[in-house]
Amino acid sequence: MAISPELRRRFAESQRVLVLTGAGVSAESGVPTFRGGGNSAVWKGMPFDVISSAAMLERNLPAVWEWFDYRRDFMEELMPNAAHYEIARWQEQFPEFTVVTQNIDGLHQKAGSRDVVELHGNIWRARCVACRSTYDMASGEKRPAACRECGDSLRPDVVLFGELLPPGAFELAAERAAECELCIVIGTSGLVYPAAGLPEIAKSAGAFLCEVNPEPTPLSPICDEMLMGKAGEVLPLLRS
Ligand code: OAD
Repeated sequence: MAISPELRRRFAESQRVLVLTGAGVSAESGVPTFRGGGNSAVWKGMPFDVISSAAMLERNLPAVWEWFDYRRDFMEELMPNAAHYEIARWQEQFPEFTVVTQNIDGLHQKAGSRDVVELHGNIWRARCVACRSTYDMASGEKRPAACRECGDSLRPDVVLFGELLPPGAFELAAERAAECELCIVIGTSGLVYPAAGLPEIAKSAGAFLCEVNPEPTPLSPICDEMLMGKAGEVLPLLRS
């Protein structure tokens, strides 16, 4: 894997770095991606963007829970991979370092990353549909049948298609993107907005943009450098 002298210099000297991750960063942990490799995720005959939608939540909350319970069960045993650990290491290297993720699996935090900006929520939390109280479902906690504060229904604390991002999350990410000198985009298809707009914000504010992905994406043409390969294999090379 050839890494340009320019990227090496940026990686050694930058003070403000932003990493944007997508499902591809967790692929080597065994979490299936939504897209890529010519496929799109389908569950019980339903495309993931139908079962994971605001419309389905309105129509059939138990079906939405069934899909997210299935995914949580599946993820329970999964561990961070070399890419998550490498990214966690970078927080000690750069004075201002931000991880923005579209992933809901919590694997960055499990690998030791602090202050992760989660754009799409977290699968290990439930949230009341009315008062927004949240309930932790990590470490084997079972979710209550109903909200303990107001008695209303609980839903997964994740962003579904057709919903807004959590208050403040994108604004914070966009602020950091506009300030960073180096932006590394890892394992995202770059198709889902507003997350996919962050590299554009970084680039137009003057950052060096690097993409890590085994496939080209719609973001590739605006990137200064494309490292074509798997995140767990490519990321450790940046430090060496
Ligand atoms: P996608 O599934 O759309 O894209 C995954 C990307 O990871 C593809 O471009 C793959 O080529 C790449 N990839 C696969 N294996 C990789 C590896 N080992 N290393 C690096 N890259 C690899 O995932 P996202 O872009 O995250 O939203 O999808 C965005 C959003 O769409 C998700 O957050 C989710 C989904 O709907 C919500 O749930 C709201």
